Amino acid sequence: MTSPTNTIEYPVLFNTNGLHQLNAFLENTTYSKLIVLVDNKTKIFCLPILKEAIKYSFFFIEIKNGERNKNLKTSKILWEELTNIGADRNSILINLGGGVITDIGGFVAATYKRGIRFINIPTTVLGMVDAAIGGKTGIDLNGLKNQIGIIKNPLALWVNTTFLDTLDAREIKSGLAEIIKYGFISEASILKTIEEMEMDSFPLDSVLIKKCIDSKLTIVQEDPEEKNRRKILNFGHTLGHAIETYFLSKVKKEQLLHGEAVAIGMILALHLSHQIYDLPIKKVDFYTRLILKFYAKKFKSTMGSNNYLVSKLPNITNEDLAYILPLLQHDKKNNNGQVNFILLKEIGIPVLDCQIDNYQIDIAINYYNTINTLTL
Ligand code: GLY
Repeated sequence: MTSPTNTIEYPVLFNTNGLHQLNAFLENTTYSKLIVLVDNKTKIFCLPILKEAIKYSFFFIEIKNGERNKNLKTSKILWEELTNIGADRNSILINLGGGVITDIGGFVAATYKRGIRFINIPTTVLGMVDAAIGGKTGIDLNGLKNQIGIIKNPLALWVNTTFLDTLDAREIKSGLAEIIKYGFISEASILKTIEEMEMDSFPLDSVLIKKCIDSKLTIVQEDPEEKNRRKILNFGHTLGHAIETYFLSKVKKEQLLHGEAVAIGMILALHLSHQIYDLPIKKVDFYTRLILKFYAKKFKSTMGSNNYLVSKLPNITNEDLAYILPLLQHDKKNNNGQVNFILLKEIGIPVLDCQIDNYQIDIAINYYNTINTLTL
């Protein structure tokens, strides 16, 4: 039986009356202390916006930005800080940030004193369209992504797209991969919008963000505990997570953002879909080039406070693959040691629990490397 905490029974407010809506919500909520969790970036760019918006006083605690800090060590520091502040079971933690903040903040809140309430205020594209919705909380263990965690919904979710102006070009592009994902698995109209975007200036309008949020809410509502349909949200993530984990490890110094790894993972999943389900190679080619267009060397965003050029996605070498393949054994969709992929029969028609041989992954990687090399 599905526990009521794992259904969408919390307010999801989208650009509603700015952030001032939070005042109305807090006015009707009993709590002892408010604590805002930020990272070193959201402390500078987002905390002042929140301070301006809410009339209630709060404590804040800060962690270092980035997936490398989403671990047990940081969780311990947070539990200790909550203790030092005197947070009790009636306190509320507000997670102000991207996927790392809502993941670790949700996890720390869900476990502190056996669970305190938390509110998610995502500030990145990725956070808004994915991480902050659906109750997945967690941390990495020994470099393995989201190895520890529980599903627990926030008390409320506030999505305010004004926070997107605080992002740099690389973060925006990283989030774009998750938007494209919804196009492949459920909302083909999103792909049309993406096709019409310029690579050097794409306005991530709130309509597009809202479409993704609605899509995720519908999927999660149907299957809150990822027994079945929710797995489609992992399209591109099986290899994507393994690639991200590998780049986070000491073996590779340069880090890939989550969405960048997912972009590679989606291209590989498209080619695997061709190999297994005859997804026409013309379509695979078209969408591979569409994705890579946004990760080209000469990219420059007109959005954000700190624009810069970003280098293109890396090729995956045989040496990389030797590290990446064993990491697939830790994928959370695995069943009885069997690695399960989400593939596409057609665009918009995902298939769950597909089994793949390593040589097929090899073919997909060769394909990705070839097109990526050709993309400037
Ligand atoms: N990020 C995938 C999910 O929430 O299920």
